[in-house]
Amino acid sequence: MLLAIIGSQWGDEGKGKVTDIYAENSDIVVRFQGGNNAGHTIVVGDKIYKFHLMPSGAVHKKFLVLGNGVVVDPKVLIEEIEKLKKDGFNPDISISDRANIIMPYHKILDSIEEKMKGALAAGTTGKGIGPCYSDKISRFGIRFSDLLDLEVFRDKLNLIVPIKQKIFDAFGEDVNLNTESIFNEYLPYRAYLKDYIKDTSVFLNNAYDQGKNILMEGAQGTHLDIDHGIYPFTTSSNTNAGGICTGSGISPKKIDRIVGITKAYTSRVGEGPFPTELLDKEGEYLREKGKEFGTTTGRPRRCGWLDLVLVKYSCLLNNFSGLTITKIDVLTGMKKLKICYAYDYKGKIIHDFPSNMKILSECKPLYAEFEGWEDFDWKKIKDAKSLPIQIQAYTRYIEEQTKTPICMISYGPKRDETLVIKDFFRGV
Ligand code: GDP
Ligand code: IMO
Ligand code: MG
Repeated sequence: MLLAIIGSQWGDEGKGKVTDIYAENSDIVVRFQGGNNAGHTIVVGDKIYKFHLMPSGAVHKKFLVLGNGVVVDPKVLIEEIEKLKKDGFNPDISISDRANIIMPYHKILDSIEEKMKGALAAGTTGKGIGPCYSDKISRFGIRFSDLLDLEVFRDKLNLIVPIKQKIFDAFGEDVNLNTESIFNEYLPYRAYLKDYIKDTSVFLNNAYDQGKNILMEGAQGTHLDIDHGIYPFTTSSNTNAGGICTGSGISPKKIDRIVGITKAYTSRVGEGPFPTELLDKEGEYLREKGKEFGTTTGRPRRCGWLDLVLVKYSCLLNNFSGLTITKIDVLTGMKKLKICYAYDYKGKIIHDFPSNMKILSECKPLYAEFEGWEDFDWKKIKDAKSLPIQIQAYTRYIEEQTKTPICMISYGPKRDETLVIKDFFRGV
């Protein structure tokens, strides 16, 4: 069976925690897009794990795969493997021979392009993600299969590096690339990783055909998708469920369930319009209580009310089998809560998330209001019907509006702070 975890908002919905929960009953956990722009947090007891490239199944000692759609910074990957080894894990990982490699010039280009873009800068994580995907699309990329063949690797560097140098010179940037030093920098990465590199498409399809449980861990969120997000304030990969197939070599016919991860409010890192953003004390409250600071960059996350226009559009694109609501505990203690169900655009009611950045920035959220709830003993709650009626009203509204059942409610960062309503792997 193949189950996928997809963020339904702008990332940081709690995908790492939910992946870790589902990983228990899976055999293989796969990243299929993005790179170390992702920051996925898992809390086990007193220990906090922050993964950027490593699939979040690592703590359950599952087999891990970085699919062809991932862009890999080998240095970061090796650091994560070494860190896990220090913690007593020996990650079993395969890297697709088709995955593209982040090179030093990608990281430099990322920051230069951001500076040049002015008001159109997305506020990237600076990890070289966009330039690496650009090279992939324009067929200037270097893949792991190239790294395995040193002659091919050297030939490619000899071709590509002088072209990148010309770009830096044209920008008037004080950058001096040296083909030989890049080659030498990547040799130890090759030596370290070479045994992990394989055709992961063959491996995953065989595993699926043998009845293994495969968990696909999306990075970012549906509204950061390069095609469907609010362009250009997106990342550079397909973050929606469509990316699973292109990024792992798995047919759409093999995707059995897709779980959308929805934070009980909305957050966003970086630039771009955000209709329900709270720039007041309530926004500050959500940021502080929800510890909304970037896992990758440490930047404060912008926070606002739950925006269902955003989530409904994700449901449309992904056809989620169920939603997991995370961080509901963060709302505890707020007197009144709001959920945005539509936008008002110059007097016109809009239900579908607009594609145009200018239109979105002029949309005013229309809200349904809800009573808040006081703190209570979560551990006494054994099923959704025992939740305080205010939480039931809040979550029922999400289900009604999105026409998608809620399959899990997360009320804290730890594994046991989770109310499982339907476990797709176990058929509960
Ligand atoms: P991801 O990128 O979607 O994996 O999310 P991040 O790890 O970047 O951010 C989510 C943060 O919220 C992490 O610090 C998690 O430990 C934490 N978290 C996850 N679920 C919950 C929850 O239900 N309640 C609270 N309070 N924190 C949570
Ligand atoms: P996870 O997987 C939140 C945002 C950046 C920026 C835009 C483009 O932890 O949810 P990039 O470096 O990808 O070119 O940046 O995308 N972004 C994320 N925001 N969570 C993430 O990942 C993100 N990955 C990228 O802030 O606005
Ligand atoms: Mg994150």
